[in-house]
Amino acid sequence: MQRRTVVAGLAGSAFAATFAGGIQIAAAQEVVKIGLIATLTGPQAASGRQKVAGARLFMAQHGNKVAGKTIELIVKDDTGVADQTRRIAQELIVNDKVAFLAGFSLTPLALAVAPVITQAKVPAIIMTAGTSVITERSPYFVRVSFTLPQQTVPLAEWAAKNGVKTAVSLVSDYGPGIDTQDAFKQRLEERGGKVVEQIKAPLANPEFAPFLQRAKDLKPDALLLFVPAPTAGSLMRQVVDRDLAGAGIKVIGTGDITDDDQLNSMGDAVIGLITSHFYSAAHDSPLNKKFVAEFKQANPNMRPNFIGVSGYDGMYAMYEALKKTDGKTDGTALVEAMKGMKWESPRGMMSIDPATRDVIQDVYIRKVEKKDGELYNIEFDVVKDVKDPLHK
Ligand code: PHB
Repeated sequence: MQRRTVVAGLAGSAFAATFAGGIQIAAAQEVVKIGLIATLTGPQAASGRQKVAGARLFMAQHGNKVAGKTIELIVKDDTGVADQTRRIAQELIVNDKVAFLAGFSLTPLALAVAPVITQAKVPAIIMTAGTSVITERSPYFVRVSFTLPQQTVPLAEWAAKNGVKTAVSLVSDYGPGIDTQDAFKQRLEERGGKVVEQIKAPLANPEFAPFLQRAKDLKPDALLLFVPAPTAGSLMRQVVDRDLAGAGIKVIGTGDITDDDQLNSMGDAVIGLITSHFYSAAHDSPLNKKFVAEFKQANPNMRPNFIGVSGYDGMYAMYEALKKTDGKTDGTALVEAMKGMKWESPRGMMSIDPATRDVIQDVYIRKVEKKDGELYNIEFDVVKDVKDPLHK
């Protein structure tokens, strides 16, 4: 009788151990899906290519197991059309049951998913779109890219300190362009300068020549430029053709116009151009050197830009959030887990503002220089821990 109990007890504990092991295996097989909505065709295709490459590099380096779960990245092309972004977001949530959405190459694409993510309580990680107001449109947005005012205010400070008394701005006519021109004007004028004209070019099929000619005729000390990065190549070709520098006009802009992905094809005429931005492929840190080398190795003929690094950092934020929730995919808990998160990115230190879910990061002033036969944005000054000025 006694012996039987002992045997039964042993068998019971062996069963319990096997059962527990089974649960662990089941948990590891449980898949957490991330829906990456990228723009992979159309005029903004370079944006999608960068963020997918950045996200895939993060997974190649860190594996696909997090908090006992298996991460699956589902990549979808929204072609840069907001209706597509919204439809794809709905499908990913309803059919694929994704724990996160990520991507958003343009401001209107991010805005289009705001009601969808709010209703479904699914976090959406913004990896490009930079209009300030986006994160206010849903409590489920978390931004790891940037805002345009965050980049522009340090540039206006630099301009005021470097002899710019009069300026003209030329921007793409939509959210991030308007944010750029307004933030620049406000800060330059607070510092005693004057923006004499704000010129806006259409976002679709822009023909910059007449606008650049208008800016040249106004003879300002500086011309401030913003266009979404994939449009920078065509803008800068026309800027070079007009020889604004030869007319004594300093051309400046956010780093979108000297995008690392296209900078080499802009030619030596852009050497010396001053921009402000949060990421340069030339950023001098061991982590960035490793990032750039491995990115190039995995993606021949590409150099990471600010969108690539945001794809990479977005994956970091999602992995860490899942670790904090112990693999649980409750959307509200995942957003809470990302609030206040701070880490070293290839761009430098960054964090998520717990009050606004927007990125806080260093903004660098850079100059285009030639190094080892390639053009780079070389950082020469920095403003630390910059918050979006419109969210303060
Ligand atoms: C945006 O649409 O918010 C956007 C896109 C590309 C950029 C910057 C901002 O380079």
